[in-house]
Amino acid sequence: MKAPTRLGILTSGGDCPGLNAVIRSVVSHATLTYGWQVFGIPYATQGLLERQIIPLHVHSFDLRGIDPLLSMGGTILGTINKGNTLACIDDIIASYQALALDALIGVGGDGSIAILSQLALHGNWQFIAIPKTIDHDVALTERSIGFDTATNTITDALNRLTFTAASHDRVMVVEVMGREAGHLALQSGIAGGADVILIPEVPYSITALCRHLAELRDRWQRRFAIVVVAEGIHPAMDVAELINQSPSCGRGQYIADCIIQCNTYPVDTRVSVLGHIQRGGIPSALDRLTAAVFGKAAVDLIANGKSNQMVAWQNGHAVAVPIEQVCDRSPLAVDPGGDLVQTARALGIYVGE
Ligand code: F6P
Repeated sequence: MKAPTRLGILTSGGDCPGLNAVIRSVVSHATLTYGWQVFGIPYATQGLLERQIIPLHVHSFDLRGIDPLLSMGGTILGTINKGNTLACIDDIIASYQALALDALIGVGGDGSIAILSQLALHGNWQFIAIPKTIDHDVALTERSIGFDTATNTITDALNRLTFTAASHDRVMVVEVMGREAGHLALQSGIAGGADVILIPEVPYSITALCRHLAELRDRWQRRFAIVVVAEGIHPAMDVAELINQSPSCGRGQYIADCIIQCNTYPVDTRVSVLGHIQRGGIPSALDRLTAAVFGKAAVDLIANGKSNQMVAWQNGHAVAVPIEQVCDRSPLAVDPGGDLVQTARALGIYVGE
């Protein structure tokens, strides 16, 4: 009798809510439908290199019959988002062989998927990727695990900050994550009622921003404002001579300083850097659902002999796309002329230019 397939799974890159839910989905489907053995590899390629594997069983983490994986943030496998993996490519390939794995599922962002795919091609592994990222910058998929929860977390923060900003007549500058992409800032900014959203993809002018704040005050008698700043924005050109401070400080602080210096009336500003709070928390229903669908689809792709594909969500379906194409088009930027930017502007939000 043929030995059961030995399937490995690892999580790579920055953590996000929904990773444990995807591990749960993979373990359940691979075990219950196909009778495979599933092994978790701790700390991504580091665990591979060190030849560490953890057998994963259905319900193995249950507490009094409750499966915590569905609702737990982070990843029980641990993860890494730094290091020069490709420098030890031969050692990792040797370790993979020693672990006698038949196939691997890697849950990661665009960087991790590209590296794992390189390893898989060199080692001739059967490899399927699942996209996760709060930055939402993996190309060719409309959903990535973690983005929905992070958007909800920021939206909730904006709601809270609105009340304190309004009570003190303050301009509240809120810096959010996203690396070089503005998806998180744009979507949570619209959902959270921001007055200004600055993203890397759309150049902004401090003069125009301040004019917008003045109009809010003078025309609409709004004495406070919420300014959402993506961490990846580039310094504005029109204030270079006004701001001595190096823009190497956080972008939120930089924008707050620009607002203070460029306004013709005194503005009380405060800066909130939401930081890693955006990556924590209980996964939203949508992220759990995406995790369930993606985990199942990845296992089916392996059962059907596919490799070097990424599971993606397109037009209401889970589909498989070649990783090569994903890498060519990632990181995915916000479309400056797209519906979301236009919608924000239609709602009176300043989004640059
Ligand atoms: O890519 C996810 C992300 O959270 C980015 O939005 C952010 O810039 C970065 O990771 C932070 O990384 P670290 O956990 O290393 O501080």
